[in-house]
Amino acid sequence: MQQRIPPGFIQELLARADIVEVVGQHVQLKKSGSNYKGLCPFHGEKTPSFTVSASKQFYHCFGCGAHGTAIGFLMEYAGLGFVDAVKDLAARYGLTVPQADLDPQQQRQLQRSRSLQATLLDVLRTADDFYQHRLRHSDKAKNYLIARGVQGQVAKRFGLGYAPDDWQALAGAFANYNADALVQAGLVIARDAQGEPIEPQAESFAAAQRRYDRLRDRITFPIRNLRGEVIGFGGRVIGQGEPKYLNSPETEVFHKGEELYGLFEARGAIARAGYALVVEGYLDVVALAQFGIEQVVATLGTACTAQQLQKLFRHTGQVIFSFDGDDAGRRAARRAMENALALLTDTRVVKFLFLPPEHDPDSYIRERGVDAFEREIARAQPLSEFLFASLFDGIALGSAEGRAQAIHQAAALLAQIHAPALRGQLLTDLARRLDMPLADLREVLHAASPRQAPVERHTPSGAPPGLAPDAPRRGARAPLRAFAAPTDALRQALPLLLAHPALWWDISPAQHALLAQESGALQPLVHTVEAVLEDQPDCSAAALWEALRAAGHAPEQVLAQSPDPLEIEPEVARHDLLALLLRLERHSVLRRQDALVAAGLVSDADRAEYRSLAARLREIDLAQRASGAA
Ligand code: UTP
Ligand code: MN
Repeated sequence: MQQRIPPGFIQELLARADIVEVVGQHVQLKKSGSNYKGLCPFHGEKTPSFTVSASKQFYHCFGCGAHGTAIGFLMEYAGLGFVDAVKDLAARYGLTVPQADLDPQQQRQLQRSRSLQATLLDVLRTADDFYQHRLRHSDKAKNYLIARGVQGQVAKRFGLGYAPDDWQALAGAFANYNADALVQAGLVIARDAQGEPIEPQAESFAAAQRRYDRLRDRITFPIRNLRGEVIGFGGRVIGQGEPKYLNSPETEVFHKGEELYGLFEARGAIARAGYALVVEGYLDVVALAQFGIEQVVATLGTACTAQQLQKLFRHTGQVIFSFDGDDAGRRAARRAMENALALLTDTRVVKFLFLPPEHDPDSYIRERGVDAFEREIARAQPLSEFLFASLFDGIALGSAEGRAQAIHQAAALLAQIHAPALRGQLLTDLARRLDMPLADLREVLHAASPRQAPVERHTPSGAPPGLAPDAPRRGARAPLRAFAAPTDALRQALPLLLAHPALWWDISPAQHALLAQESGALQPLVHTVEAVLEDQPDCSAAALWEALRAAGHAPEQVLAQSPDPLEIEPEVARHDLLALLLRLERHSVLRRQDALVAAGLVSDADRAEYRSLAARLREIDLAQRASGAA
């Protein structure tokens, strides 16, 4: 749990701090219009696409999508945690972070969690030193690494070590082998009298019958966070054995789905190369680095998660995945692609590299050399190509049924892509491949796109004719509108609100509710926006941003959907927002009408509601025409 800093203080701090000054200490900035520009510190670039807005107190990189406030900048650039970044910034402007308004129990819990984390990091560092030291004294381990072609220098850079063949080797590294922290750090396993594992928080924990090292007789790979602190280990068996790799469990400091092995070591190389290569194994990272390809990270035994990808996109605009050429590799690639779709922007590139089935990057580069591997990288398949290849896999495009199936699957994938230019490109491409006019394809996709909320399917007999004067005619066009999800309206509305929180007060409570109701997966975020603004009606965009992040949301994902988040004038934003809300409302009214029709319009109340919705629809249409948005 993070230290809770009163939101009012964040607001005050961001009002006092000057982002141009803060960023300017690390990046050379030049005035450009009302903004400042410079070379992005988060990815390698030669022409500046990194913009800092003094009026908005945000930075934004059009190259890699990095975006944030002065606090965010310190977190990303200096690798600070949120609380440290706030403290750092406050100190620069002579402010003191107030003691949070926590009740005594929360205070204690916070204190405990912070000191636990510090303890665990300390314990992990000690274990890391111990393992590395033991590697230097183990011929067996050293010989294994030599046999695998790992050189001393690279082993040192990655901190490779050796966990000795001993049930309690770590007793030699810690004064108290029974300390809870060893279990909490994932280094030691405790079992009760029956031999069952005991969780550190269990009552019987202190009475554990037996404790032993998790990693025994294994090569250790320390997993580091962005500050270079060891947060966990991977351990490879020496030679044959099961399981081949053992990883640290989830702990207070180690979250598998968020961390990437090697990112700390690869950061500089990623910026220089202009891309990050994602591989599957620890040893792939190490081997490639040894051959001079250092811009490499590995997921930790799972498919690349959206969080991991998001993390990479803070460092670079291009991510290349490497997979084995076999079926398992293709399946993993497909999962990675699906996770990537929603995070794409028009400036982010994702590619896929498929090695021959018998190879992983480690074996490939050793057998065929650096040049061959670099050629593979250069030939990596763009996401669009891979998307179509997997889309059409096993589908006979020659037949109408096959094409319908392809369109159906394409709709599901394309619906997740928010990047407008990329979407357009993919659509054009798809139309060409299906040999179909683009306009027709759009129409069909529109109809086939997954709906926001499940809508009852109409049956022709669903609406008794003549009962409701405004009941829609059952015709070819009728089902179309039910499918027309307002996600694009929402995608445009939310960035406007985030960039101009004051707009919240320009829209009615009914529209607030509408926004929340239509926001699907973003509903919690909208509710947080509402809560923050209720609490601080004059909240700045930057302060709202930090409040959302503090509540665990990812506002950057919302903003990434807007082409020009810093440049929208308040008046334009207001006009656009109101127009978008009309579209959202129109959709919501139509959906409600459809539901009433599907239920048969049997009661007077239903029919009355239907008619009043129809009246509202006419008002909306008029308003839309008036605002020129119809
Ligand atoms: P691989 O089985 O492909 O191993 O697992 P590798 O990386 O090529 O390892 P070497 O070359 O045989 O030493 C790929 C990754 O999957 C995870 C590890 O992160 C590993 O690096 N993994 C694999 C596990 O977590 N546990 C396992 O038992 C196996
Ligand atoms: Mn391997």
